[in-house]
Order: sequence, then C-alpha cells, then structure tokens
Amino acid sequence: MRAKLLTILIAGCFGAGSAMAAEKSVEVVHWWTSGGEAAALQVLKDDMQKRGYTWKDSPVAGGGGDQARTVLRARVAAGNPPDAMQMLGFIITGYAEEGLLGDLSGVANKEGWDKVVPAPLQKFAKYKGHWVASPVNIHRTNWIWANKKIFDELKITPPKTFDELLAAADKLKKAGYIPLAHGGQPWQDATIFDSAVLSAGGPAFYQKAIIDMDKDALSSKTMEKAFEQMQKLHGLLDPNYPNRDWNLATAMVINGKAGMQIMGDWAKGEFLKAGKKPNVDFYCFQYPGTEGSFTFNADQFAMFKVGKEQETGQLTLASAIMDKNFQEAFNLAKGSIPARTDVANTKFDDCGKKSMADLKVAMGKNAMLGSFAHGHAVPEAVKGAMIDVVTNFFNKGGSPAEAAKQLAAAVKNAK
Ligand code: BGC
Repeated sequence: MRAKLLTILIAGCFGAGSAMAAEKSVEVVHWWTSGGEAAALQVLKDDMQKRGYTWKDSPVAGGGGDQARTVLRARVAAGNPPDAMQMLGFIITGYAEEGLLGDLSGVANKEGWDKVVPAPLQKFAKYKGHWVASPVNIHRTNWIWANKKIFDELKITPPKTFDELLAAADKLKKAGYIPLAHGGQPWQDATIFDSAVLSAGGPAFYQKAIIDMDKDALSSKTMEKAFEQMQKLHGLLDPNYPNRDWNLATAMVINGKAGMQIMGDWAKGEFLKAGKKPNVDFYCFQYPGTEGSFTFNADQFAMFKVGKEQETGQLTLASAIMDKNFQEAFNLAKGSIPARTDVANTKFDDCGKKSMADLKVAMGKNAMLGSFAHGHAVPEAVKGAMIDVVTNFFNKGGSPAEAAKQLAAAVKNAK
C-alpha cells in the first residue's frame, strides 16, 4: 500500500511545477555490460557528458535484461525508480499503463520523430498517442554468426536450408569443433525459437501464431516443425552450454572453438570489439528459411516521473538518443541499425547494410515482425508462459507434437 502510494506520488510529479534547481545528472538502468555493449554505451555516455550531464550508471548484468527488469520492478515498488531505463516492447506499454512514464511528446514533436521512426517501433514508443520512450536501435534476431576461417578450412558456405545447416554442423563436429555455441538461458533458447518458427512457417505463420496467438496455428503441424528444428539444434551443443552467458558463446565462435551461434546482432558488437571483420573473420547470414523476413528487437529508453528537477536531463537524454549522428555512431558499435530510417548506410559494414536493406523490404511485405524472445510479440505474461514451454522442451526433450499442444495451452491460460 505504502509502495503504491509512493508510486502515485511519483507519478504525479512529471510535468508538475517545482522550484528545485536542475540536478545535472541522469541515472540510467541498463543491461549493457558485455564488451561490445559497453563500447556502444560509451558513445551515449560521452554524448550526454558533452551536453553537460553526468551519467549515473546503474548497470544490471544479465543478457536479455531479465535481471535488470527484476531490479526495476523492485525499485518502482519501493518508490525509487531511476530517471531512465532501457526497455523492450510490451514492457514499455506496461509501465505506461501504470502511469509511471514521462511524456516525451514535446521533444518528439519538435524533432519530428513521427516521420523517421518505423510504425512497428512507434507501436511501443507511444502510449495513447504520446511518446513515452526514445528508440535507440533496431536489432534483428534471425541471424547466424559463423567463424569464416573454420568455414573456409572445411569448405563450408553459409547454409541456405535447415538441412544444409545440419550438414555444415556435421562437418564441424567431425573436424573437432563445437557446431553451435549456445548459452542455456531461457531468453537465449527463446531467441532461437524466433528463428525456428519463422523458418518453419514463414512470416504469415509467425504473425498468426506468435503475434496474433491463434490457437490453431500454435498447435499446428507447422509449429511441430519449429520444435523439431529446436530438437535438432540441441544436438549440436557442447555439454557445458547450460547457463552460459551469450557473449561467452559468441567468444567461442570468435576464438575458433565453435563454428556458429544463433543470436541477435548484438553478437556482432562482440566480433567488432575483438577487432574482427565481417566476411573476413566472420560471416553473418540469416537463419535458413528466414531470408527476407526480419524479427526485430528495439531497445528504447523510457523516463520515469521522478520529479521536475530531473526533467530537463531526461528530455536531453531522450533527444540525444534520437540524434541522427548519435544513432549512426552508436549503432556502428552496437551491431544494430539505427531506429531512424533516415540515417545513411555508407558507414555500416556488410552485415549492417544487409540489415538496413532487408528491413526496408520486410517493412513493405508485413515481414517486420516483433521478436517473441525480446518482448515485441506478446504481452509479458503470455511471453513468460510460452518461454517456459520452449525452454523446457529444448532442454529436457520430448515430443514436438506434445510441445506444440502445450504451447497453445500455455497461451490460452496466460491470455
Ligand atoms: C537487448 C540488446 C542486448 C541483448 C543482450 C537484448 O534484449 O535488446 O541490446 O545487447 O539483450 O544483452
């Protein structure tokens, strides 16, 4: 009750008058703690510093952000939310619904965000017509990252079909490499599932099953195929995969222990940080059967209503994030592409250029789809129930037909 009261009090502050002097610091909670992520974050920290603000860093380690979201929930309940928080998809909508997020529409309208941010991102950045978050990037989850030297040595070319992927994995295994580097954490298992569903059924099926939550699609033969792929992929892992962090799995590919990793393009940030170059040291290609489609995951920063004295800093951060030059510099390091569609592709590498070109095509044919694993497909409660089924099946095995049925049941119960 007390926590709720505090929350209400805080909620009332954004935009309310206060005579307090502006504090020139902004506290930001995020989960960008890997090498590549930290390098990208540094671009934002430096930018804020140039704008006269001290960056109060509140990192919560844990890829995918589950731990950071738990910390945030506790802080909000205790009446102590940060000035700004890294958020994904439906999480933004949830906090907006609670009335806790500041309105960024003043800055957004002045700067014309409407014209440059793709509609699928605006769906989450806005709440009831008001901007409540500032989008920093567009990540893509249906990627595979591969060690090119190993591929060359074994005369493997990027697989175009799932069977070719298995054949490549077989060659890797026979030559003593781990075919697939993976970290057994629910969000990483779910990241693979994004691709498996898209590959098994194509974009229209992904939309129907994963975004529209259609019960027949969820329990269909096509969904069984997605689980079959998951089962086969599990056979390509090393025994130490449980609970491994995603960036350690990426390091296995970088260091030549493993051939491939299925992961969002934050993995590219790790390759770049290690001084590696696309098409020289590593390959980036679409998970077989998903070429032309784009499962997106966009990081956004939402500002909590913490009081008038922090507002200028918060709005400065929101505006800095949407700055065109910043978006270029940041995304070059992060592995993603800009959230703004008006940034030139010239400075981006081949993977970045491909992502930008593919996004344009995907947007034109309803194939820019929210990543299930990263909270852009279904509300959080449904996502949690679905991830339980996916991760349980992936790690413990079972029948794909049974898993598809369980998935449909889990969605029905959680809706
Ligand atoms: C975020 C990325 C981050 C990744 C791994 C994703 O949920 O959107 O920005 O790099 O998790 O931590």
